Amino acid sequence: MRSLSLDTRCTAGMSMPARANTGEFWAKSNNEKTGWFRIMTAMIELENLSKHFGELVAVDGISLNVSKGEVLGFLGPNGAGKSTTMKMIAGFLEPTAGAARVGGIDVTDDPVAVKSRIGYLPEGAPTYGDMTPRRFLDFIAEIRGFDGSERKHRIDEVVEKVILQSVLDQPIETLSKGFKRRVGLAQAIVHDPEILILDEPTDGLDPNQKHHVRELIQEMATEKAIIVSTHILEEVEAVCSRAVVIAHGRLLADGTPEELMAMSPNHNTVVMSVATDDVQKFAETAIRADGVKGVDHMEKLDGMDRFRVLPMPGRNIVQPVTEALREVRIEVRELYVERGALDDVFRQITTADTKAPATQPKEAANA
Ligand SMILES: Nc1ncnc2c1ncn2[C@@H]1O[C@H](COP(=O)(O)OP(=O)(O)OP(=O)(O)O)[C@@H](O)[C@H]1O
Ligand SMILES: [Mg+2]
Repeated sequence: MRSLSLDTRCTAGMSMPARANTGEFWAKSNNEKTGWFRIMTAMIELENLSKHFGELVAVDGISLNVSKGEVLGFLGPNGAGKSTTMKMIAGFLEPTAGAARVGGIDVTDDPVAVKSRIGYLPEGAPTYGDMTPRRFLDFIAEIRGFDGSERKHRIDEVVEKVILQSVLDQPIETLSKGFKRRVGLAQAIVHDPEILILDEPTDGLDPNQKHHVRELIQEMATEKAIIVSTHILEEVEAVCSRAVVIAHGRLLADGTPEELMAMSPNHNTVVMSVATDDVQKFAETAIRADGVKGVDHMEKLDGMDRFRVLPMPGRNIVQPVTEALREVRIEVRELYVERGALDDVFRQITTADTKAPATQPKEAANA
């Protein structure tokens, strides 16, 4: 393993502590030839973040970090606490307990500094419905401190990115749901922030626009830390490098989409079609293969029998099963390995927690 020594200096010429400035650390390799490495550190840090509304515990001690280059998906049922968590990170809602830090700055200590580094797309339609998108974006860009040709350039760029040209002069309140959402997205990115908090960014968009916005998020991801909430599980696979599952205000799972899918009962199940009328022989052979938990006969189709061969947890059974079948001269005509569906994992995780007390405030909240 390559050994690294940590150093807290920033990029050349910067004298502020790394965490409060760039969120980056630099490390020196012991190997003189390879020199300095940049080590990714968290741009967003949540530490036991909690929010109570009276007796209701909406967010219950969430801790996580998000680094530059990451797109973190927030998954969870309605009322899970996703939007409330996002509002706290964006500085629009004060936590009851715990902390949210953005670029090393505590949101409660300096919400203005945090807001300048963040782009936030709240749920629902943008406020100022009587303004046109052109006026609204001009207003937002002005608040963000841009004027003259720079302001014009920023607005032109974002209008093109989010495809708003056709509705620029129509009052926002008269726009269709999808266009309202796109105006909201435009205001969130007009200042090209390092951190993006996007609450259901593709909600209400048509399939083409969903695709376009997902591409946009991926394009922006390399230079930013992004949190996206969504109910569309295919969106998690399409744009997120990592996802957390939240229910009753608690973080229940955290991993890459692949790691989450590996929790599916169908993960690594092997589906096989074989040209044999001897269902019994197939089942007896497959079940004896190393790592196999069970065999289901699915259907008989066009002279072939299709089976689902289930693995024991964590086992990869393709090779042992195909070898066992070869030995008894059963020819495999079709074979694919199921990755497992994210919806199954989502249901499994979020329904297992339904008995958890969601409305008991902690003593700390009343302090
Ligand atoms: N201002 C508020 N006052 C009282 N309760 C609130 C307030 N805001 C949110 N809640 C409650 O907090 C809980 C979490 O709501 P939140 O909007 O964060 O859920 P969500 O995960 O975003 O759900 P959805 O998927 O429906 O958007 C819900 O029970 C909600 O009713
Ligand atoms: Mg929400």
